[in-house]
Amino acid sequence: MTTSEFGQDVSQGLGAPEKFLSSRYFYDQRGDSLFRAIMATPEYYLTDAEHEILSTQGGAIVEQFLPGAEIIELGAGDGTKSKVLLAEHLQRGKFCYSPIDISGNSLDLLSGRMKKWLPGLEIRPITGEYLEALNQLPGARQQRVFMFMGANIGNFTPPRAEEFLAAIRGYMSVEDRLLIGFDLKKDPNTILAAYNDASGHTRAFNLNLLERINRELGGDFDLEQFEHYPCYDPQSGACKSYLVSGRAQSVFIKQLDERFEFIAGECILMEIAQKYSPAGLQELARQSGFCVQAGFTDTHGYFIDQFWQPQP
Ligand SMILES: C[S@@+](CC[C@H](N)C(=O)[O-])C[C@H]1O[C@@H](n2cnc3c(N)ncnc32)[C@H](O)[C@@H]1O
Repeated sequence: MTTSEFGQDVSQGLGAPEKFLSSRYFYDQRGDSLFRAIMATPEYYLTDAEHEILSTQGGAIVEQFLPGAEIIELGAGDGTKSKVLLAEHLQRGKFCYSPIDISGNSLDLLSGRMKKWLPGLEIRPITGEYLEALNQLPGARQQRVFMFMGANIGNFTPPRAEEFLAAIRGYMSVEDRLLIGFDLKKDPNTILAAYNDASGHTRAFNLNLLERINRELGGDFDLEQFEHYPCYDPQSGACKSYLVSGRAQSVFIKQLDERFEFIAGECILMEIAQKYSPAGLQELARQSGFCVQAGFTDTHGYFIDQFWQPQP
């Protein structure tokens, strides 16, 4: 990702009638560390739920892969959870692991950790945007298992998720598999609390993107004048985070040579975290060219990792 791509996306998002910023830009060095802090909060149940699935059912999940299958992980982050599965898979033979992430900083951290945790692992990190990085993969010699964990897919609206998954299907042969994590619909209060932690890390995570615009694009956002506002619609399953302008104000971004006007109470959509029902997932799989082969949930039924097979 280049600064000019970042600038173009910011210009497009803040210039839109309903302002938005792409969540892919959250992850600079400070964003990475704030996200790790969010994962450690008591309210952010997603990490514990998926960790429980992988640590108690990792053996059964890995049995679905062929021994030696190559693992490609999209949006790998710091790899703490994936480590459990990779360790199980490594017991059945050597394989190559290609973590993909837009944050080079996260990949450096992950690579350093994996070398210590799993010294026998061959690791080929690729820094870049999901689909651009997939274009850099060498041709397959054996089965490939694509992993997309942590409910990263929830950052797409359902129609965009379908398009994205159909694009992933385009990189796969019928022998390949997709292991994908989804956050499930549940008590709306539990969901909302996860995006509004009492320690304020989610608030800081959102404001950090304005700070990044100030630093990298010469913006003059006054962070004191924006407030974090998460909301959840239990029927559509859309959980959204906004930054709300506390007053009428104008923001100038030097590198874009553009000024953006805000009225009091105007919002910037920062992130979507879509929640699904089991029936919705069957439909999503079918529409994007897959069928659901197996599913693994935690004891609360909060989260599901599903194993998807491409339709021929
Ligand atoms: C919510 S974190 C989850 C990390 C990990 N999968 C987990 O479950 O702990 C999302 C990760 O995806 C990466 N990411 C977000 N958007 C991306 C994109 N468009 N292309 C590649 N990586 C992306 C971020 O840098 C971050 O490390």
